[in-house]
Amino acid sequence: MSEHFLINGLGGKRTLEGEIVVRGAKNAVLPGMAASLLYRDPLTLTNVPEIEDVSRMSELLSGMGATVERRSGSVAIDARKVADPELTEEISKRLRASIIFIGPMLARFRAATFPHPGGCVLGARPIDLFVEGLEKMGAVFAQEGKRYRVRAPEGLHGADFFFRVPSVTGTETIMLAAAIAKGTTIIRNAAMEPEIVWLSEILNASGAKIEGAGTPTVTVRGTNGRLLSAKGKRFAVVPDRIEAGSFLLLGALAGKELTIANIEPKHLDALSAMLEYSGLPLAIGKRAITVRAPKAGKVLRSVDLKTHEYPGFPTDLQSPMVVYLTQTTGESLVFETIFEGRLNYTESLARMGASIAMMDPHRVLVKGPTKLSGKTLESPDIRAGLAYILAAAIAEGPSRIHNVYYIDRGYAHVEERLRAVGLDILRIPE
Ligand code: EPU
Repeated sequence: MSEHFLINGLGGKRTLEGEIVVRGAKNAVLPGMAASLLYRDPLTLTNVPEIEDVSRMSELLSGMGATVERRSGSVAIDARKVADPELTEEISKRLRASIIFIGPMLARFRAATFPHPGGCVLGARPIDLFVEGLEKMGAVFAQEGKRYRVRAPEGLHGADFFFRVPSVTGTETIMLAAAIAKGTTIIRNAAMEPEIVWLSEILNASGAKIEGAGTPTVTVRGTNGRLLSAKGKRFAVVPDRIEAGSFLLLGALAGKELTIANIEPKHLDALSAMLEYSGLPLAIGKRAITVRAPKAGKVLRSVDLKTHEYPGFPTDLQSPMVVYLTQTTGESLVFETIFEGRLNYTESLARMGASIAMMDPHRVLVKGPTKLSGKTLESPDIRAGLAYILAAAIAEGPSRIHNVYYIDRGYAHVEERLRAVGLDILRIPE
């Protein structure tokens, strides 16, 4: 059933108050679930968000023959009976992260079949880095119509591989493949996101030998085919820094006093530095950040933004940050360096009254502050969908946001959690 959100904007008032508790990271739980293929006993993850992407990942695993038990906040996967290393087209085209499966599939079964992965509409999203990395480890790819068939007849072996571009899921895929391969794999110019560090920690706690995750050089000593074992341990998923940052920005825009809890504040340094530079004071604790309304008359200044791999400013927070910049004083140049097409949503913000000029597909100039007015909007992807919620929250009058499936892919029960801190938001069935 398709649904939409109806939001009555605060019209510039800062009334949101209370605490939002952040769940485990979507972009950690997805590779974590794929890792289950490498285990000889059940893998249990806790602090799992109730999001659509976790449901799609569960369906993919069940389709392969795994037993997936989902309880509130946890998922237990027993992949011992998996026999069919094939990704169905229907689900993989909705979920780009499904590509991560090919690493563990190849390592364990020496074969995998998958369609070109889909996911959000973020310009061209190639898989050349995955193909080159796995080829170096002994895999042979063949394209059959719309599907890829990949085999490693002799099993995967270690390799020394340099990523031309540091890819997050690419690093995770090679790391998973290398964990049980024969010999040592070195990934150079690896991505350094906290989700990669978390993945390496659960693998290492289960018998893998991975060093350097979180640095540009990751070294994996393979177990030569020996599967990993969770030994009854349960692994809590690292907090979602993107969800945390998005809610922090909501607080920055409309908060009287809003606390974002159950987070790892260090993972948000790039955002905190920007907000503090713009003049917004933050109270940064051990596991929470509180944002308070600035003193009356205080001018928040504009700030230029350039997205960058971790620890730089995440592309996944670019769209909510742009909503914030529509309310700061002055000009902000926003440079999206990671994905093409990830600024198209700004047209809708302009329709709401923001002053945003597209300079080229990677850059926009935002002038603020501008009043926004409520509109009917269509979420183009997970992150821009959430940015629209922020824009609607501060606008004058009602907004309707369609395509909520995208928002549900990445944020669990968002309307309930935001209503609890004072936002007038309803999910309307259509
Ligand atoms: N790239 C290639 N070839 C490849 C793979 C990537 O050229 O084979 C390029 C991409 O086109 C892009 C750059 O490398 O320009 C970096 O992309 P990356 O591979 O790091 O992105 P990803 O692994 O597909 C993950 C997140 C994204 C997040 C990006 C960047 C997951 C499941 N997804 O994607 O999250 O935006 O890293 O941080 O971890 C989201 O959650 O909404 C989302 C899109």
